[in-house]
Amino acid sequence: MAQELRYDNQTVVVTGAGGGLGKQYALFFASRGANVVVNDLGGSFKGEGAGTKAADVVVDEIKAAGGKAVADYNSVEQGDKIIETAIKNFGRIDVLLNNAGILRDVSFKNMKDQDWDLIQTVHVKGAYKCARAAWPHFRKQKYGRIINTASAAGLFGSFGQCNYSAAKLAQVGFTETLAKEGRKYNILCNVVAPIAASRMTATVMPPEVLEVLKPEWVIPLVAVLVHSSNANTTGTIFECGGGHMAQLRWERAKGALLKANESLTPGAILKKWSDVNDFSECEHPDGVADMMTKLEESMKMGDNDKGEEIRFDGKVAVI
Ligand code: NAI
Repeated sequence: MAQELRYDNQTVVVTGAGGGLGKQYALFFASRGANVVVNDLGGSFKGEGAGTKAADVVVDEIKAAGGKAVADYNSVEQGDKIIETAIKNFGRIDVLLNNAGILRDVSFKNMKDQDWDLIQTVHVKGAYKCARAAWPHFRKQKYGRIINTASAAGLFGSFGQCNYSAAKLAQVGFTETLAKEGRKYNILCNVVAPIAASRMTATVMPPEVLEVLKPEWVIPLVAVLVHSSNANTTGTIFECGGGHMAQLRWERAKGALLKANESLTPGAILKKWSDVNDFSECEHPDGVADMMTKLEESMKMGDNDKGEEIRFDGKVAVI
């Protein structure tokens, strides 16, 4: 008989679980035996207002299906209270899905501090506060799984979303560091950049596209990543939506190596400009260690060819 991934006796905290992707995470993990903390502030997608109904409806649905869940109405900025809800009700936390999110879309020209700050607070501080409160439990039990939620807007930029883009790419650096610090305690942390139909995307995508982007189809990848059988995948970024899923990683061009002395002029760089931008021989770095090797190589080199007649048709002024 085919086996299914199960999470019996584990506690899964899902932030923003009152709707969209979070609701599907909560329903799924409860159906696979986990105790679920259904956290949701219950406000609008712009971060206004609050209410208990969003979380309550999901908890009722889980309980009606025979699952175990408890509602939590705190904002993710109060991450310690959310984790406390898990400990008080279920005695432990095993998986944290930092999923809660809002949007305050506006062109950069019209961006107000409030639009910027609220987005950073919910996405960046919220993910930090929840992870920070879960961390001692994870370390003590030598087990923990975290998913932080990025976005294509963060990875590639998106018109009218500079506040959100900054907050979403922050999830990548945050996760990569947690993955490094958590590794020896069996705390694995990954980032998912989802794409799914929800109230967030309802107004920006046509119905026929939304139809093939069911949030349910993001859940299985996350289920695999946070399962105890995943012992190695950590610090990794995945795109996921509409049946597509793929890992993303950093890519470094071949690059130029120049002697680091007074001969390292703009002219010397421009002479090597095609190497700086040449991805035909690329590397996929996951740390800073190899930069030290390059530094040593550069120290051994002779002076650079500064050149006088720079022929460069790019956008960098030659000084
Ligand atoms: P959604 O709006 O349906 O769900 C987000 C949930 O988070 C809502 O139920 C909301 O009440 C809750 N929430 C908002 N602020 C909160 C706070 N301070 N504390 C606790 N709960 C709070 O949106 P969706 O689409 O399900 O988004 C889930 C995550 O996925 C978000 O982080 C979003 O940025 C991200 N995302 C979604 C994409 C999509 O295509 N739907 C694309 C890229 C990223």
